[in-house]
Amino acid sequence: MPALVLLGAQWGDEGKGKATDLLGGSVDYVVRYQGGNNAGHTVVVGDQKYALHLLPSGILSPSCVPVIGNGVVVDPSVLLSELSGLNERGVDTSKLMISGNAHIITPYNVTVDKVTERFLGKRKIGTTGRGIGPTYADKINRVGIRVQDLYDESILTQKVEAALDVKNQILTKLYNRRAIAVDQVVEELLGYAEQIKPYVADTVLILNQALEEDKVVLFEGGQGTLLDIDHGTYPFVTSSNPTAGGACTGAGVGPTKISRVIGILKAYTTRVGAGPFPTELFDEDGEALRRIGGERGVTTGRDRRCGWFDAVIARYATRVNGLTDFFLTKLDVLTGWEQIPVCVAYEIDGKRVEELPYSQTDFHHAKPVYETLPGWSEDITKAKSFSDLPKNAQNYVKALEEMSGAPISAIGVGPGRDETIEINSFL
Ligand code: GDP
Ligand code: IMO
Ligand code: MG
Repeated sequence: MPALVLLGAQWGDEGKGKATDLLGGSVDYVVRYQGGNNAGHTVVVGDQKYALHLLPSGILSPSCVPVIGNGVVVDPSVLLSELSGLNERGVDTSKLMISGNAHIITPYNVTVDKVTERFLGKRKIGTTGRGIGPTYADKINRVGIRVQDLYDESILTQKVEAALDVKNQILTKLYNRRAIAVDQVVEELLGYAEQIKPYVADTVLILNQALEEDKVVLFEGGQGTLLDIDHGTYPFVTSSNPTAGGACTGAGVGPTKISRVIGILKAYTTRVGAGPFPTELFDEDGEALRRIGGERGVTTGRDRRCGWFDAVIARYATRVNGLTDFFLTKLDVLTGWEQIPVCVAYEIDGKRVEELPYSQTDFHHAKPVYETLPGWSEDITKAKSFSDLPKNAQNYVKALEEMSGAPISAIGVGPGRDETIEINSFL
């Protein structure tokens, strides 16, 4: 029962899409287990570039069944436009399966996301504005709308009424906005129902049966460990659990089934939106990482904040996810630096701290303690094996591995599928 979890070890955008796509050809199912279209995964196949938001990156591998698990939040209009965009480019999406228990991002959830951020002003989270937080809040408050509700008009109407009851009070009285009409929402949602119907399935049963039959299942995380609602830099996080445990609850598969947990780790660090980021650079190096790494959000088009590699975070990701492997990405971006600083610990109020502090206040005060490693200038994008890398690049990888607490089993040296050095097989 080979079940693998692949997740972001930092603040998202580590290259999960590329890594998933790379494995997609060898696995039977790729399952998204949390998040929604706040994700932006770029996959490059030959000369074709795909930007995926809600669909699992396995959708580009013809042999693989893509699954949207119960833990995901689904915006039906985004789902349908992403599917038709892929169909127009000749990608067969007919195998897609969507859990009937996945929650729907309704138009009012998107509105609430945007007005809440505006209301927070300087204290805003910098969300993607896709309705993610309010949809998960409705789920927890037990006023959410699920995919299966699209197939019972009376239930759907009652649930939308219940959800809008309080929201309309808030929208009109607190935010000075117009109330949202129940009928209009119901009509819009019903308009998606028939198009989505062929994909709706009992994904929990199907995935567990597949594992019983020794099929290979890959669980693909959105976002990253430090954006996790429980283990991330709360409140500057997303509203779901991208960490490994989220794969179990978000897909309905027991932890005993998971055989491997792969953390996708960028060779430096990026973050989008607000929140603490100890190794963030505000100088020419940060600008160069952004330019060379193409660090611009796939979903919102925002520039990503950039900084040096942070080993404290990598160690933390190893611990909270039980990582068995790392996939180190974007090593090629660091080519050309004479010296590369790496954060090995923090200094907090004059004291050296080796592990991520649990206190938000301490983390806000954390200053990086750097060790500097010698860089390399040779082009590494054609490297096929570890020994093809220049000595200093090899040493950089080995140093990161030692500091991060799990073996680096693959290295990305470019965005393409074949621009990858495989060290240990994942399957
Ligand atoms: P995700 O959200 O984790 O899937 O990552 P994104 O797709 O948002 O951002 C990663 C970006 O880096 C994408 O543009 C990828 O095409 C690109 N990428 C992935 N791996 C590599 C790599 O090893 N080298 C380079 N240069 N680019 C990479
Ligand atoms: P992928 O899957 C990077 C960030 C947002 C914001 C915070 C909360 O491409 O790695 P949300 O809309 O989720 O409520 O926003 O989380 N965020 C991401 N940052 N990559 C992502 O996804 C992200 N998804 C959400 O920028 O700071
Ligand atoms: Mg991304």
